[in-house]
Amino acid sequence: MLKEHTSQFAGEKILVVDDEEVIVELTALLLRSRGFEVLAAHNGEQCLELVKMERPSLVLLDYMMPVMDGETALKKIVQHYPDTYVIMFTGKGSEEVAVRLMKSGAADYLQKPFVNSSLLERVDSVLQLRQVELSNRDLLHEKELLQQEIEAWNLHLERRVEEKSQELELAHREILQAEKLAALGHISAGMAHEIRNPLNAINLFAQILSGAYSDDLENISYIKKIIEEVERVDSILIKMLAASRGTAAPRSEVRFEQIARRVLADSEVVCRSQRVTVECLIEEGLPTIIADPTEIEQIFTNLVTNALFEMQAGGHLGLRLTMDEGFIQLVVSDTGRGIPKEHLNQIFDPFFTTKEKGTGFGLSVVLRIVRGYSGLIRAESDVGLGTTFSVKIPVRQEMAA
Ligand SMILES: Nc1ncnc2c1ncn2[C@@H]1O[C@H](COP(=O)(O)OP(=O)(O)OP(=O)(O)O)[C@@H](O)[C@H]1O
Ligand SMILES: [Mg+2]
Repeated sequence: MLKEHTSQFAGEKILVVDDEEVIVELTALLLRSRGFEVLAAHNGEQCLELVKMERPSLVLLDYMMPVMDGETALKKIVQHYPDTYVIMFTGKGSEEVAVRLMKSGAADYLQKPFVNSSLLERVDSVLQLRQVELSNRDLLHEKELLQQEIEAWNLHLERRVEEKSQELELAHREILQAEKLAALGHISAGMAHEIRNPLNAINLFAQILSGAYSDDLENISYIKKIIEEVERVDSILIKMLAASRGTAAPRSEVRFEQIARRVLADSEVVCRSQRVTVECLIEEGLPTIIADPTEIEQIFTNLVTNALFEMQAGGHLGLRLTMDEGFIQLVVSDTGRGIPKEHLNQIFDPFFTTKEKGTGFGLSVVLRIVRGYSGLIRAESDVGLGTTFSVKIPVRQEMAA
């Protein structure tokens, strides 16, 4: 029998608050018979205390009470405990009050004296409303979380796309560089052969003429110019060959520190005449690397030559050789004019030069060599302050190139 009367919300906690003991007791009896768990309070303060501790699903709250009236208690419950719903008991004929209480957040109201059946109906329908609203709120919360997650993903994806685009751009540049080098390789091998022979002949004849005109100061100066220019063309051809060389050179155990010292010794005269101070830092016990010594020397020479070119009015040249997690790291720094940002991308391109007599091969040779050893090269520069090139070469190398 009792089962028929049990509410579908049986087990929910309901707090009954009224200063009239009889009403509290009767209402509690009625609700318990429907399977609800019932708590009781006799004024607004007790009510709030119990709401705080017990978190009932529903409060049946009398409007007129001593200590703290029902309306004040209602407002506090609505503000602090949104999961607790409230049905207000009001006096007969006080519709205005009822409207105000509903506006303040009551879920429903019931005029006293009430009939049992309508109380039970209201209780069930408010609990029903509460169930729907709470699950709606959960869904909204879940939706918000999902939206946040989607936004985070979008941001992540945008970043990935940006990163990938940058990588692609870099790869594209590298392909262009490689293509230029390959084209250069074909042309220069043929050109070097074709041009260097007649060039040698010109040089030879110029030498003979210089002997014949040894007393004629004016003509001898012209002949010297011819020889100088011929030598310049020859050196350009040699650089072109170096920049494009693809053949494997013999490798042996190379000591980077020896090469570093030799290159610095070779530049001593230039450093002195340009008033460039030199600071060389070499870590003790560097391992040897299987490499082509000529290629490694070219890395040092080209970087140091570029650095010195930028410090014709004096400056400071730094050279550091250290070990860094399986790599030998070479850092060459100068206090020259620096490289403008818009050039930083181009300096490794063959033919890129800002010098009147430059060929633009120096750094492309360095890049080709460094790549040949699976190494890395990076340039950092501040215009007006100077430039630093860092090269990292893995210590473990194959014997063959
Ligand atoms: N240390 C540096 N400081 C400032 N600019 C530099 C430095 N090193 C290279 N550059 C810039 O990069 C360009 C390319 O250098 P790279 O060595 O490839 O050719 P180059 O020095 O111009 O000519 P080459 O080395 O063939 O005689 C230079 O013309 C210069 O603009
Ligand atoms: Mg150079």
